[in-house]
Amino acid sequence: AGAGLVDRYGRRATDMRLSLTDKCNLRCTYCMPAEGLEWLAKQAVMSAEEIVRIVRIGVEQLGVRELRLTGGEPLVRHDLVDIIAELRRNHPDLPISMTTNGVGLARKAAPLKAAGLTRINVSLDSLHEETFTKLTRRPFLDQVLAGVDAAWAAGLGPVKLNAVLMRGINDAEAPSLLAWALGRGYELRFIEQMPLDADHGWTRRNMITAAEIRELLSTDFVLTPDPRARDGAPAERFEVRRRVAGSDAAPADGPVLGTVGIIASVTEPFCSDCRRTRITAEGKIMSCLFSREEFDLLGLLRSGASDDDLARRWQDAMWLKPKAHGMDHVGLDAPDFVQPDRSMSAIGG
Ligand code: GTP
Ligand code: 5AD
Ligand code: SF4
Repeated sequence: AGAGLVDRYGRRATDMRLSLTDKCNLRCTYCMPAEGLEWLAKQAVMSAEEIVRIVRIGVEQLGVRELRLTGGEPLVRHDLVDIIAELRRNHPDLPISMTTNGVGLARKAAPLKAAGLTRINVSLDSLHEETFTKLTRRPFLDQVLAGVDAAWAAGLGPVKLNAVLMRGINDAEAPSLLAWALGRGYELRFIEQMPLDADHGWTRRNMITAAEIRELLSTDFVLTPDPRARDGAPAERFEVRRRVAGSDAAPADGPVLGTVGIIASVTEPFCSDCRRTRITAEGKIMSCLFSREEFDLLGLLRSGASDDDLARRWQDAMWLKPKAHGMDHVGLDAPDFVQPDRSMSAIGG
C-alpha cells in the first residue's frame, strides 16, 4: 500500500472524513425530511473497535494526516468520548476534528477536549429562534449557542461555524450573523446549498450563490482574500473589514475584524484540489460526496480480511474518484445532473 490514496487524476487523499452515525436530532430542511429517515440497524453501523481499526489503517498505511468525525450527528453516539480517547491513544499527533450541530455540546465539550479532540465546527444557520426552528424543525437554538460557547471555553477552538443560506429564510441575516461571529472570534463560513437533501427540493434558482453571498455582505463589510494558503479546503477565506458608511472605498488600513469563509461547492467548485476520502457510518468508502459507487470496507473487515486487504480495497475505491461533480457546467436543473440517492446526513457532510 505504498502510494497512499491516489486517484486517476493525480490527487492524493490525506484528509479522512468518518461518519459515526446516520442518526440526527435535527431535521434541517436542506438535509433531512421532516419525518426523519429510516435509521440503520445498530448492527450495520461500525463499532468503536471497527472505527479504530479503519482509522489505524488509514493513518499507518495510507497516508491519512487529518481526521474529521461527522454524522448524522456525532454527539448522539453514546461511545463518542471513548472512541476519541482510543483514537488519541493510537495517534498522539493526529489532528482530530468534529462537525456537529451543537445540540448537547454544552455538556460534552470539556470531556471531548479531555479525550483528545482537537477542534470543532458547529452548524449555525440563524440567531433568531423562529428562523432557526423553521430551518432545523427543532427549537434548540439556545442549546446550540451554549454549545458553541462551551466548545470555545473548553479549548476546542478555533471554532468554525457553518451556515447554509436559504433564499427568503436566512439569507437576509448574513451580515448580522457575520457581525455576531466576528464579535466572538468565531470563523463563520457561508455554504452554498448542494442538492443533497432527502426531499430533493434543491433548485438552481433557489440556491444562494457565492456571488450573492459576497453581495449580501458588501452592505456592511469589505472582504479581501486571506493570504493564508487554502490547502485544498472547501472554504475560500477572506479577511473582513467594516465598510465605512456612505463610502465605496475599501478602508484598506482599517482593522481586520476576523475571517469569513465561503464554501462555493456549486458555482466555484474545488474538486481539482480535493484531498478527502469518506467512510460512511456503515463502513462504505465514498471517494466523493457525489460518487455513485460505494465500496464496502466494513463488510470486508467483518469477513476476516487482513489490514493489507482493507488498504487495497480503499486504494481501489479512491482510484475511481470522479474528476468533479459536474454541477457547475451541466446547468443545475439540467436532466443530466442526477442527485445522489444518499442525503447529506447519510454521507456525513
Ligand atoms: P475545516 O476547514 O478543516 O475546518 O473543515 P471543513 O470545512 O472541511 O469541514 P466541515 O465539516 O465543517 O464542512 C463544511 C462544508 O464543506 C460542509 O457543507 C461540507 O459538506 C462541505 N464539504 C466538505 N467536504 C466537501 C467536499 O469534498 N466537496 C464539497 N462539495 N463540499 C464539501
Ligand atoms: N448543502 C450544503 N451544505 C449542507 N449541509 C448539510 N446539508 C447540506 C446541503 N444540502 C452542511 C451542514 C453542516 C455540514 C456538515 O454540511 O450545515 O454544517
Ligand atoms: Fe442538519 Fe446535519 Fe442533522 Fe443534516 S445531519 S439534519 S445538516 S444537523
